[in-house]
Amino acid sequence: MMLLLSLSILVLLTRLTVTSGTDMKDRVRRAAPDACALIMCGPVENGLPGRDGRDGREGPRGEKGDPGMPGAQGPAGLPGLDGSMGLKGENGSVGDRGPKGDPGERGPAGPAGVPGQIGKEGPPGQQGNVGPRGEQGPKGESGVNGPAGNPGAQGPPGARGTPGPKGDKGSPGDKGNPGSAGTTGPAGATGPQGPAGARGPPGLKGDRGLPGEKGVKGDSGLSEVNTLKQQVTALQEQVKILQASVSKFKKVELFPGGKEVGEKIFKTNNYEGDFETARRACELAGGQMASPMNVQENTALQQILAAYNKSAFLSMSDVKTEGKFVYPSGKPLGYANWAPGEPNNDHGGENCVEIFTNGKWNDKSCGEQRLIICEF
Ligand code: GAL
Ligand code: CA
Repeated sequence: MMLLLSLSILVLLTRLTVTSGTDMKDRVRRAAPDACALIMCGPVENGLPGRDGRDGREGPRGEKGDPGMPGAQGPAGLPGLDGSMGLKGENGSVGDRGPKGDPGERGPAGPAGVPGQIGKEGPPGQQGNVGPRGEQGPKGESGVNGPAGNPGAQGPPGARGTPGPKGDKGSPGDKGNPGSAGTTGPAGATGPQGPAGARGPPGLKGDRGLPGEKGVKGDSGLSEVNTLKQQVTALQEQVKILQASVSKFKKVELFPGGKEVGEKIFKTNNYEGDFETARRACELAGGQMASPMNVQENTALQQILAAYNKSAFLSMSDVKTEGKFVYPSGKPLGYANWAPGEPNNDHGGENCVEIFTNGKWNDKSCGEQRLIICEF
């Protein structure tokens, strides 16, 4: 061991002698502290004295060392340039519905409508004006006595009257107070109660009483009038309803085969018969056979006949006196609408009257069959 160390120092010293004096010192100080330690600390045993180490030369360059540890992270660099614009986003959701628009302009007037059906029968006309004042009526009878009035206030006391006639004997007076005790009777039972005393005189007349309370107030005539007015209004309403109802039923009843003309109604029972059959049917129904008294009535009859395309017997005949037609009442005709050349009493046997679909009259045999039409 000692031998090896000594050899190493010798080699080193040999090298140092090749190098210049001052450079050598610095180089040894800088590059080989261990060599210094070897020089300073190494024991010298019996060797030759070494040369000054300042003569050593620079040694060969050492091998490249291992890469050092990475340094600490440097400060953050400057911000980079802005990136390019992103892609366009998706469309947003549909917005709320806008407010309602203003109404459009008014359109042009439509074409005129078809005329409506004939209206219903109108309501009755207004009540007519008040008629002229009538003549003064005879004087009325006296009215019945009115009710008794309230009692009057109390009058002053009257003068004293003449003494009245002697009054009736009065009722017996009150029983008198018991008398003082009598002397004690003989020993024995108490006697029976005596008879009632005579009626005493009547007492004095009492004072007049105070007036009674005032009676209940009577109904005022005005409220009675108002009540009647209300009743009249209610009745008028009912009349209106009834009129509307009657008007409707008339139409139903007159369809078909009926006609209303003025106050008269013609109606067929849809049967045919001879004069006598028709007469009885109409009488049974509460009317009589058709008896047109004017052109309006004759036209109404004609309309029924035209609808049925038949002739009918009228109520008149000349059975009683040939050539003299009369109504069932016996009165002569007030209106006639004979066909030309009629009545002709054809074959001497035409005592009844028929009316054709054209409204003209013809005397005809009463045994023929004709449509039955009555009037009411
Ligand atoms: C008939 C009629 C008769 C008579 C005759 C005259 O049709 O029934 O009454 O009037 O015509 O031609
Ligand atoms: Ca005839």
